[in-house]
Amino acid sequence: MSGEVVVVGSANVDLVVPVERHPGAGETVLGGDLVRSPGGKGANQAVAAARAGGAGTTFLGAVGRDDAAALLLASLDGAGVRTDLVARVGAATGTALISVTPDGENAIVVAPGANARATLDAAGARAVGQADVVLAQLEIPLPTVVAAARARRPGARFVLNAAPSRTLPAELWSQVDLLVVNEHEARDVAETEGTPAELATALLERVPAVVVTLGSHGCLVAERGQPRVEVPALRVTAVDTTGAGDTFCGVLAASLARGESLVDAVRLASAAGALAVTTPGAQAAVPSAAATRELARAMAGAPHDPSARGMGEGA
Ligand code: RIB
Repeated sequence: MSGEVVVVGSANVDLVVPVERHPGAGETVLGGDLVRSPGGKGANQAVAAARAGGAGTTFLGAVGRDDAAALLLASLDGAGVRTDLVARVGAATGTALISVTPDGENAIVVAPGANARATLDAAGARAVGQADVVLAQLEIPLPTVVAAARARRPGARFVLNAAPSRTLPAELWSQVDLLVVNEHEARDVAETEGTPAELATALLERVPAVVVTLGSHGCLVAERGQPRVEVPALRVTAVDTTGAGDTFCGVLAASLARGESLVDAVRLASAAGALAVTTPGAQAAVPSAAATRELARAMAGAPHDPSARGMGEGA
C-alpha cells in the first residue's frame, strides 16, 4: 500500500425497489421485488477506495447492534476496509429507502439512525492523523465532519463530498482542500445560480480545488491558479445510478492517496463511476481496479459523446 485513506461517514442498509416511475406526493405505486443491500455514502466510498487498490482504507462511522450492522460490516470487511473503529451504538443502523426506475435513476430517503450518533473519538482521531486523504460526506453530524478535518496531519488532504447538500458552516469551509459536488450540490453550497464553470469559480473563492460532476457531461476540474480541465463521460447503459457518485469519490480519494495528480485521479474516478451505473446496487456495483484502469485508458482515447450517460445526479 502506498497511501492511506480514512473515510468518515454514513453506513446504511439500502432497501431498494424497482419502479416504473417514482411516486408523486400522496401517491402509491406498486414496484418489483425488494432488495436489501449494503449502502450509505460513507461506506460506499470506503468500499470504492479499498477496491481501487494501492491505498489502505479505514472507515469511521456508527452502526447499531442489529443484523443490518452485520450486513454492512461484512461488506466493508470483504472489500478489505479496516472496520475495527466503527462504533456500535444504541440506535438502529441507518436505513435508505430507494426506488429505481428502468432508466437507472433513483429517489432516496434516508433514516439516519445510528449515523446521527457518529462522533470522532480518540482512536478515530489517531487514525485520521495517519491518513494521506480524509474523505467525508454530509450524512453524519457536521461537528463530526469538522472534527475529522481538523484531526488530519499537516500535508494530508481533506476531501468533502457535500452530499446531501446543506449550508456549510465557515469552520468547515476553511478546512476543505478539495470539494466534490454535482451541479445541484454546487448551487446549494455556493448559494448561487450559474453555469458549472461559474459555480466552480464561485466555489474556488472558498476552497482551493473543486470537482463538479455533471452526469452525462463528464466533470469539471477547477484548481486555483490552474487551467480548468473538462473530463468527458463515456457512453454506458445505465441500470442503476445508486452509489455511482460514491464510487467516484472513493476512487478519487485512493488515487490521490497514491500520489496521482488531481486530473489523473478524476479520470480514474470517472471511469469507475461510469462502470458503477451498469450494475445494480451501491457497493456491489463498485468495479475492480483492473476494470477501472482499462476503461480509463479507453476514455483517454475516446472522443466526447454528448449523449453519454454518466453518474446520476445525487447518486
Ligand atoms: O449515494 C447512494 C447512497 O445514498 C445509498 O447507498 C444510500 O444509502 C444513501 O446514503
